[in-house]
Amino acid sequence: MQRTYIDIESPESLRVRTDTPPQPGPGEVLIDVHYAGVNRADLLQRVGLYPVPADASPIMGLEVAGTVIANGTGSEGLLPGRRVCALVAGGGYATHAIARVDHCLAVPDNISLVEAAALPEALLTVWHNVVVLGQLRADQTALIHGGSSGIGSLGIQMAKLLGAKVLTTAGGPDKCAKVAALGADAVFDYRADPLLAQIEAAGYAGAIDVILDMAGGDFTQLNLDLAAPDGRIVCIGMMRGLKAEINLFTILQKRLHLTGSTLRGMGLDEKVAAFVAIRQHMLGYIAGGRIKPVIHAQFPLEDAMAAHHAMQAGAHVGKLVLNCQV
Ligand SMILES: NC(=O)c1ccc[n+]([C@@H]2O[C@H](COP(=O)([O-])OP(=O)(O)OC[C@H]3O[C@@H](n4cnc5c(N)ncnc54)[C@H](OP(=O)(O)O)[C@@H]3O)[C@@H](O)[C@H]2O)c1
Repeated sequence: MQRTYIDIESPESLRVRTDTPPQPGPGEVLIDVHYAGVNRADLLQRVGLYPVPADASPIMGLEVAGTVIANGTGSEGLLPGRRVCALVAGGGYATHAIARVDHCLAVPDNISLVEAAALPEALLTVWHNVVVLGQLRADQTALIHGGSSGIGSLGIQMAKLLGAKVLTTAGGPDKCAKVAALGADAVFDYRADPLLAQIEAAGYAGAIDVILDMAGGDFTQLNLDLAAPDGRIVCIGMMRGLKAEINLFTILQKRLHLTGSTLRGMGLDEKVAAFVAIRQHMLGYIAGGRIKPVIHAQFPLEDAMAAHHAMQAGAHVGKLVLNCQV
């Protein structure tokens, strides 16, 4: 058996290489990867801005979907032939990948493997940041910035099913229309009039309990202004900039919580707990067709660079995935 994988030769050159697939250790499965999700972190890793943890594969790719083909000891809960999607510690841009069995989800019959590849990273990120850190509860209001993103397109659906009123932002009328179709209660175009004025006019300023923010930069003060008293603002990305000037008095006045996290920085226990919660609270919605991953496009594994360029160009709504069946 051979593994084909994508190697970073340089930031502008990816090479297809082959080797022997890794063997699953205790508590791990070997997956015959059909599709791998493409994430912003992969683009950063390619250009050397996302250091790979010492115990992770240097191959790009943080999520996969496929079938189990071998078990390490203690992973027999998912036997060969089972369709799974998984969060992986790198190594997703390949025909074979190792995953911890407790980082896998059994893929419901109604979901294709291409759709399943779009699930693990977004499910985990939204659950941990919106539900665990953001403490979103039913009947509260959430603002999910970046509604067109892989994270946002799933986050809107999840927050609605948690019983929240869901507001979102997107760039331009076309993206706003596509994002509205995902079920958000209100969509605001961040490229049109100032967002604060738009959201004030809609009556939500000062009334938003949880904000999931991937923009950072000048959106940070905007978020503080939009939050309700005791509101939680969770930063997961910095598409508008790493630095922000904020008025700290807004935090004092409204007792706001400003926090954030990275998926790779989450502790093992936190990840396992998030998977347990997702199986319990979200998998039924996926199996029942109430959460639908949004796939914008798929690329052959060997065209991973084209997928990266497409993500950089930012015309997509939903996820980009690689077809790893070479
Ligand atoms: N911390 C974590 O654990 C974690 C995990 C996963 C992802 N992330 C981060 O979450 C973000 C989304 O990831 P993804 O993989 O879903 O990427 P993606 O699909 O490429 O989405 C990028 C999003 O950023 C928005 N955006 C881009 N430039 C913007 C700007 N100047 N102002 C406001 N919004 C802007 C885009 O909105 P339009 O398309 O509407 O312009 C789009 O919704 C990335 O920043 C990623 O690094 C963090």
